[in-house]
Amino acid sequence: MSKPLPPTMSFDEFDEINSPRPEVTGFDVVADKFLSRRSFLRGSLAVGASAFVLGTGSLVGRDAQAAASWLTFEPVAANSKDAITVPKGFSSHIVARWGDPLWSGAPEFDHASRGDGASSAKAFGDNNDGMELYTTADGRSILAVNNEYTNRSITYGNRESKLPENADDVLKGKNLHGVTVMEVAEQGGKWGIVKGSYYNRRITADTPMAITGPARGHDWLKTAADNTGTLSLGTWNNCGNGTTPWGTYLACEENFNGYFSSSDKEATPPAAFKRYGIKHKDWGYAWATADERFDWSKHPNEPNRAGYVVEIDPMDPNSTPKKRTALGRFKHENAEVVVASDGHVVVYLGDDERGEFLYKFVSAGKYVEGGDNANLLEDGELYVAKFSDNGTGMWVHLTPATTGMASKAEICIHTRMAASAVGATTMDRPEWVAANPMKAEAYCCLTNNKNRGVKPNAGGDATPVNGPNPREKNNYGQIVRWAPTDGNHSSAAFEWDLYVMAGNPTVHADAYAGTSNVTADNMFNSPDGLKFDSKGGLWIQTDGNYSNAKDFAGQGNNQMLLGNTATGQIDRFLVGPNQCEVTGLAWSADKKTMFVGIQHPGEKGDSNWPEGGDAVPRSAIVAITRDDGGSIG
Ligand code: FEO
Ligand code: CA
Ligand code: CA
Ligand code: CA
Repeated sequence: MSKPLPPTMSFDEFDEINSPRPEVTGFDVVADKFLSRRSFLRGSLAVGASAFVLGTGSLVGRDAQAAASWLTFEPVAANSKDAITVPKGFSSHIVARWGDPLWSGAPEFDHASRGDGASSAKAFGDNNDGMELYTTADGRSILAVNNEYTNRSITYGNRESKLPENADDVLKGKNLHGVTVMEVAEQGGKWGIVKGSYYNRRITADTPMAITGPARGHDWLKTAADNTGTLSLGTWNNCGNGTTPWGTYLACEENFNGYFSSSDKEATPPAAFKRYGIKHKDWGYAWATADERFDWSKHPNEPNRAGYVVEIDPMDPNSTPKKRTALGRFKHENAEVVVASDGHVVVYLGDDERGEFLYKFVSAGKYVEGGDNANLLEDGELYVAKFSDNGTGMWVHLTPATTGMASKAEICIHTRMAASAVGATTMDRPEWVAANPMKAEAYCCLTNNKNRGVKPNAGGDATPVNGPNPREKNNYGQIVRWAPTDGNHSSAAFEWDLYVMAGNPTVHADAYAGTSNVTADNMFNSPDGLKFDSKGGLWIQTDGNYSNAKDFAGQGNNQMLLGNTATGQIDRFLVGPNQCEVTGLAWSADKKTMFVGIQHPGEKGDSNWPEGGDAVPRSAIVAITRDDGGSIG
């Protein structure tokens, strides 16, 4: 059985310890570079960073008069309450919690056992993350939601070891992962699950899927279970999401590596495993103990069937999900889809690991309204971002010629190595990308990177500070934005600036205080979820340090803020319960309800949200409405 996640360690901290590292870092070389770079930056970071941001002062400068967002509210204060806080004049209620049954015959959540394999397959999964709401022709609301992972100490809190102890425990874990599709409806002012709806569906770590695109049928995807390389089983660690203009849902596979292990401790892993963080031990999920395909010493190609974007038709519960290899294989955060002005479909994609990259897919075909767009994500070109310090940037085409790799299929399977080969810009953990519906520009949360300027990424690429990642040991994060040349998202060139650098102006007076649009009243750390509403408001969700101490003093629990992209003003709208992450955002068709995801409350043991008392903490979706019944999106 694998080493457990220590109960006092967050997922992020565990990820850091388990992230792949070069065997030899050349400590002296790194230290020299770090020290000389730091002394250079002490002077120039303040100049470089502030000059850049202040250079766009008309965009990012603070202007109290011009700053009001389209939604009027009195910002909420930071706090460390085990509750949801929303502004006066707004209300919230629970829509669905981990373990809530989707069918009337299925049992209610049992706080003692926390469910089993069978009940978990018939319930809303755990740790909800990205989500989207779809509306049927007859006006029904269908919510598609990622269930990213499980907190082992909570899921298996009924076990002495706080870990899976038998095959059904493992099945429970697998069934709590994946995607939940469920009809939701409002009754008496409260939204809830429509049990037994035709649309309700659980997609789990065992659901059959088709592999599509350039890598379909490639030798590296052939396994004992499927010797054609065209099928796979299941999806897991689905983090952010995307949605297409043709009505499909995109679930993005992020830390897929942490589920694989090797029963043969002496087995030599394939070379590519190191870059993707696949090791002899898993992260405590123990799936290989009950399902041999997660034992890579026996099935070395199985990990190659994970790490993709999965396209799902939420309207057809019998449809087969499609893994879209054309969008590359890495630790996908979300997939932001825009139709470029020339008609090609562009998908922006972040790879969330320290020093990894930001990508863009451009479809071969063009979007035709009302036409057959179902396979636009099957074929296209992949690009990676290269930022220049002068505020310009290029999307570098990943091809056999530019990368030296043998085929497009190999680029789609070993995408990280392809991007390293062209010298892409190492980033501070790209999380969600959001495209502005009002103008041709896009934003990406770079959540934090304590290794910036300290050590290379998992591929050995050096990570000195650079334009959009200007602070070494970056523990606060920033949001970069770019505007494509000619307002066309499929253009190869763009201009960029920083919308905000998070920080703490009550603790620091240098670049770690953040940009001028960060104040003692709105400060936050580790921006992660990001989405525009239909009126151009930029909603920022955080997944950061909630200690409320030292560098993070005064920042309280994780939160959600509303940003004005024209003025730079950012106002805190919501504070989540203890030890949660706020992630995932969707709106009802009439925009009068906003659905917000609360993930991993009490991940270190300090929450009983939402039920209170001594209840098991449960990830959940909350609905937020205006007391005056007005629009909230
Ligand atoms: Fe699952 Fe990068 O957050
Ligand atoms: Ca998450
Ligand atoms: Ca995230
Ligand atoms: Ca995060």
